[in-house]
Amino acid sequence: MGRSSLKNIRRDYKHSELSKTSVNKDPFVQFNNWFNEIVNAKIIDPSAMVLATVAEANMPSARIVLLKEVDVKGFVFFTNYLSRKAKDLETNPNASLLFYWKEMDRQLRIEGIIEKVKTKISEDYFHTRPRESQISAWVSKQSSIVPDRNFLDKKYDELDEEFGNDEIPLPDFWGGYRLIPEYFEFWQGRESRLHDRICYRKEKGNWKIFRLAP
Ligand SMILES: Cc1cc2nc3c(=O)[nH]c(=O)nc-3n(C[C@H](O)[C@H](O)[C@H](O)COP(=O)(O)O)c2cc1C
Repeated sequence: MGRSSLKNIRRDYKHSELSKTSVNKDPFVQFNNWFNEIVNAKIIDPSAMVLATVAEANMPSARIVLLKEVDVKGFVFFTNYLSRKAKDLETNPNASLLFYWKEMDRQLRIEGIIEKVKTKISEDYFHTRPRESQISAWVSKQSSIVPDRNFLDKKYDELDEEFGNDEIPLPDFWGGYRLIPEYFEFWQGRESRLHDRICYRKEKGNWKIFRLAP
């Protein structure tokens, strides 16, 4: 696509609006309110979020992961503890999450610190996954170089046979992380490009709410 046609891609936003007084004082409640609306709108992959981390050499990297749980402390996703993102998080626990729900003209940024969840949480979730996904978790040394596709398929078949009908255990290199937020920014697209940006920042244990210019 030529650059000039990219420049012409635009549309109007007219879904809803946000203000400091209309949002809930608790950003977790506000998240739940938004998320329920998004799920009700039957949007594909509503829980897909971009996770951005920063490597030791200060290089940022981003990838999609799926939000699997929101608890009182934060936002939980599951992954491989030896992956590139995990290595980033070992040296720098600062991270950000980004949702874009385009059908609702909504963007949500969340920033904070990431910690590993308790093994029990990973265990409970792992056992709810389909057997194929459980085997794949064992097969994939995520983010390492593999010779070819066949290498993965062969390893899958071997492990499939080895596990047989047994319960597949949680690999010690796989589990959950929780992002504990310090900042939220709810962005609602508006007509006329004067979009709403309502933010929450944690200050001395309380959430301070403010509006940013779009
Ligand atoms: C829709 C979608 C959902 C994904 N969900 C996850 C997930 O929940 N956990 C995960 O580890 N990777 C997930 N991935 C794959 C990641 O984007 C990424 O390729 C992988 O985690 C390796 O990232 P890393 O090398 O930066 O660690 C998903 C990808 C897509 C496109």
